[in-house]
Amino acid sequence: MRRIKIFDTTLRDGEQSPGVTLTPEEKLAIAHQLARLGVDVIEAGFPIASPGDFHAVRRIAQEVRGPTIAALARAAKPDIERAAEAVAPAENKRIHTFIATSPVHMEKKLRLSPDEVVARARWAVGYAKGFVDDVEFSAEDAGRSDPDFLVRIFGEAIRAGATVINIPDTVGYQTPWQFAELVRYVIENTPGIENVDVSVHCHDDLGLAVANSLAAVRAGATQVECTVNGIGERAGNASLEEVVMALYTRRDVFGAETGIRTRELYRASQLVARLTGMVVPPNKAVVGANAFSHESGIHQDGVLKARETYEIMDAELVGREAAVLVLGKHSGRHAFKKALEELGYTFNDEEVTRLFTRFKEVADRKKQVTAEDLVALVEDQRTRA
Ligand code: KIV
Ligand code: ZN
Repeated sequence: MRRIKIFDTTLRDGEQSPGVTLTPEEKLAIAHQLARLGVDVIEAGFPIASPGDFHAVRRIAQEVRGPTIAALARAAKPDIERAAEAVAPAENKRIHTFIATSPVHMEKKLRLSPDEVVARARWAVGYAKGFVDDVEFSAEDAGRSDPDFLVRIFGEAIRAGATVINIPDTVGYQTPWQFAELVRYVIENTPGIENVDVSVHCHDDLGLAVANSLAAVRAGATQVECTVNGIGERAGNASLEEVVMALYTRRDVFGAETGIRTRELYRASQLVARLTGMVVPPNKAVVGANAFSHESGIHQDGVLKARETYEIMDAELVGREAAVLVLGKHSGRHAFKKALEELGYTFNDEEVTRLFTRFKEVADRKKQVTAEDLVALVEDQRTRA
């Protein structure tokens, strides 16, 4: 099994979600949970961005043990110095420096020639290396960059001392098969790449961030950058829990494992949702309220006979209660009878049939029939009898 490293950027790219700001205490609480989860790297923030972010990164570097603590820096002296100061107390520390490499970013945003961009990347990695051993270099907007230019700039970054090269799909433009090709091309052609980690960082503008990350793993990437609940700039980043559970559930396809303690996933999701105020949609894979609920009669009957009929992973494995059967208008008699039994009622077949007819009437009016509704139904039936 190949070991894939999980680089969590909830506290940096995740916090770049519109409307989200976390206090240093909140960031610290999330960082402790990420350490319990077993991520390999916590990108704790962008220290040059604000004094609050600097202090948050510094406290995390002082207090959180286990994962490597990373800080982001543009390829600029003040950024790198601030990042270095912030991560200094960490046991294992990384500076993550980046510069854009796509034609549109180089021409319109940076107003630098490709040669100047390469020179700056080489300088930034070398300068960061003076503060820490572990330096990650990202080619921002790699997803829209010329593959040969990526090979050139990554080769230079590795020669300057980078320990990780990162291929971000900054604007979520890639498709899984193209992205896999790009990652494979970079791996096959960049000198010295066998000595470093190859990372990917995918955004979700077309809803493909997880698929693109997984395709990259198949193509040889050794690190995936992601966020809890997939929060992040615009449509967000690849969702950590989805990447991890896809790699685990389909290890037959990927032949890869992570160091994540999956039973901590749900707790991490709930904590991040509560502190960021970004609500998890009910149908969100792995951590959504409905992810392990069954409503239709056919599915409920199957699950009562054997869970694997409609479940590909156990709810307990991601730290949730066992799958639940939700009673609604699509539910069948089996699930209805089981729900009555769980409430302590036993009825003969004729009584169940009568109650079931009335239950369907209620279910037509209500989206979901609760335990209280069932008790009311039974009591009403008794008073009528
Ligand atoms: O999306 C992106 O390109 C980034 C980089 C800073 C890695 O977040
Ligand atoms: Zn990003």
